[in-house]
Amino acid sequence: MAKRFNDNEWTNKMRIKLDVNNMFAERVGPEHGFTREEITALSDKVEEAHNNIKQAKPGFMDLPYEQTEIVREIKEFAAKKQGEFDNFVVLGIGGSALGNIALQTALNDPYYNYRNDKRGGCCRLFVPDNVDPVRFKSLLETLDLKKTVFNVISKSGGTAETMSQYLIARKAVAEVVGEDKVEKHFIATTSANSGYLIEISKREDFKTFYIPDNVGGRFSVLTPVGLVSAAFCGIDIEELLAGAAYMDKLCQSSDLWQNPAYLNGVLQYMSYKEGKPLSVMMPYAHALKDMADWYRQLWAESLGKEVDREGNVINVGPTPIKALGATDQHSQVQLYTEGPFDKVITFLEVEDYGVEIEIPAVYQDIQGVSYLGGHTLNELIRTEKNATELALSKRGRLNSAIILPEVNEFTMGQLIYMLELQTALVGELFNINAFNQPGVELGKHYTYGVLGREGYDDKKQEYDERPKKDKDLII
Ligand code: PA5
Repeated sequence: MAKRFNDNEWTNKMRIKLDVNNMFAERVGPEHGFTREEITALSDKVEEAHNNIKQAKPGFMDLPYEQTEIVREIKEFAAKKQGEFDNFVVLGIGGSALGNIALQTALNDPYYNYRNDKRGGCCRLFVPDNVDPVRFKSLLETLDLKKTVFNVISKSGGTAETMSQYLIARKAVAEVVGEDKVEKHFIATTSANSGYLIEISKREDFKTFYIPDNVGGRFSVLTPVGLVSAAFCGIDIEELLAGAAYMDKLCQSSDLWQNPAYLNGVLQYMSYKEGKPLSVMMPYAHALKDMADWYRQLWAESLGKEVDREGNVINVGPTPIKALGATDQHSQVQLYTEGPFDKVITFLEVEDYGVEIEIPAVYQDIQGVSYLGGHTLNELIRTEKNATELALSKRGRLNSAIILPEVNEFTMGQLIYMLELQTALVGELFNINAFNQPGVELGKHYTYGVLGREGYDDKKQEYDERPKKDKDLII
């Protein structure tokens, strides 16, 4: 793909936009909607948060700018390996998997894995993101392991799920290709200086990519964590980073009215404070379905915290919910429209789907069906979104929309960066550390203890001493 981001006209056309009309009292009524004055009243707090973010400079903010060399290396490596393999498998979980899935769903054909004509010789992609035994066994049986390369991704280099997947996959590959060829079939993506994966990778002589120490798992999609599988699947990783850089430029101002990440963050924060702890992301494009999943982890793990920065117990955090338009109009929207006033909805809207399908005009004598004829599926899904937005607003339900002109690498880079910065901002407003995940670590440590990992005996003891279940309560 040509490097279109050098073309200013194209870049401006591809700018994603934030529509917050339906967060205002005029649209959803004074009981739930906000006024400009209420929003502007948070300006000082946002200014302070902005300064803190600039000073701390979380690692994800450097990624659009500091990866020229690594991008070159990834592209060369992918190009060299492309012909050797048909399948690319990501072994990883959470932040080491979800970004890979989101990029693939957004940027490649919906049936990419099945369509040789759409892959241009690139690998199929599989991301199990779990240790379900049925699914994992079936995956290894399905793939021709001689033609499969695995990227083992773990920042900590020791996550039980990922390392188990790796150990099983390594055995299966060795049985098929022989011990001496195992090395060709594995890549490791991990921290350079800590964890067991780097040790294994060196011992096995695997090709290794590194995750910067200051970029946490859920913020790492624009590092080799997400970029390697993307490059193997024909996605233009330079345009992804260019999109992120462009959004960074759009988000330089500390003025929340000039900064889409901050404005959206502030509105989410205000909604939470006003008794709306449930934050729904609802794309009206199947391509963005897994973006909502990626965002769900970003929002939940970053903002769900027990203590603030001073150690006070605050048990804070909005609950992210993913939905899909128009599918969930027939599942969730009844609840969103008439249920408790506890939600704020963010639509993801796409202006140009890249294809258009006309609905055939038949059954002209059947009124209830004939009206569809001559319209397009594009018109239908767009109208459905607008209609849902209107219905929600009329019922006093807060909603906003992030509008993508198209789904492409450049707009995805923008969206990812905007949501990451929005998360950092809301972390500041809550006065929490948005970049740790002690709750996730605790569960991991119990698992390590139970499975006998050295250094986790106390966790095993706690686990063994957990209250026994009352059989009467299992009916
Ligand atoms: O965002 C996070 O930090 C987590 O969700 C991790 O990505 C997840 O737990 C996997 O960790 P790791 O990459 O260390 O194996």
